[in-house]
Amino acid sequence: MATLHKKSILPYWSAKDMAGHCQRDLCLGYSDPLRGFVIVQCAADQAEILTIVTDPDHRKSGIAGSVLSAAEDNLSARGVTIIFLEVAEDNNPAIAFYRSAGFEPFGKRPAYYRRETGRVAALTFRKRLDA
Ligand SMILES: CC(C)(COP(=O)(O)OP(=O)(O)OC[C@H]1O[C@@H](n2cnc3c(N)ncnc32)[C@H](O)[C@@H]1OP(=O)(O)O)[C@@H](O)C(=O)NCCC(=O)NCCS
Repeated sequence: MATLHKKSILPYWSAKDMAGHCQRDLCLGYSDPLRGFVIVQCAADQAEILTIVTDPDHRKSGIAGSVLSAAEDNLSARGVTIIFLEVAEDNNPAIAFYRSAGFEPFGKRPAYYRRETGRVAALTFRKRLDA
């Protein structure tokens, strides 16, 4: 998981960080060798996607859609009714992915992510599972 995250140029989470997430959170992966995974934090009837990633060599083949759909089934079964997430406003592939999966934008956190060229806002999205 750490290797895939690093390969995707996402913030560095070590193997130890990932092991912690696997103990605390819902972590679902796609295939062996691992081509993609999602980490979701749950609290009562709410959940937050902490990260979702597909191996850059295997994108646009339905992997993230597949792990997200499996996560939603799992979350629904444990009584979660709404999922939240935040995404950088310059991350167009992820925004397109979340929109295609039925997430709706509802807010903006200015200057949330640091970039070499400055800061960019985070967009907040949500999806009701009980709609
Ligand atoms: C966002 C990400 C997880 C999508 O993974 P993926 O496995 O390629 O996505 P899927 O193949 O399941 O795509 C499902 C749908 O999402 C949309 N989508 C996915 N990638 C897209 C892109 N680059 N441009 C436009 N739409 C896209 C499409 O509607 C796609 O359906 P289609 O292939 O029938 O057109 C992947 O691009 C990634 O790992 N990005 C880097 C990590 C990241 O930014 N994660 C989000 C952090 S908040």
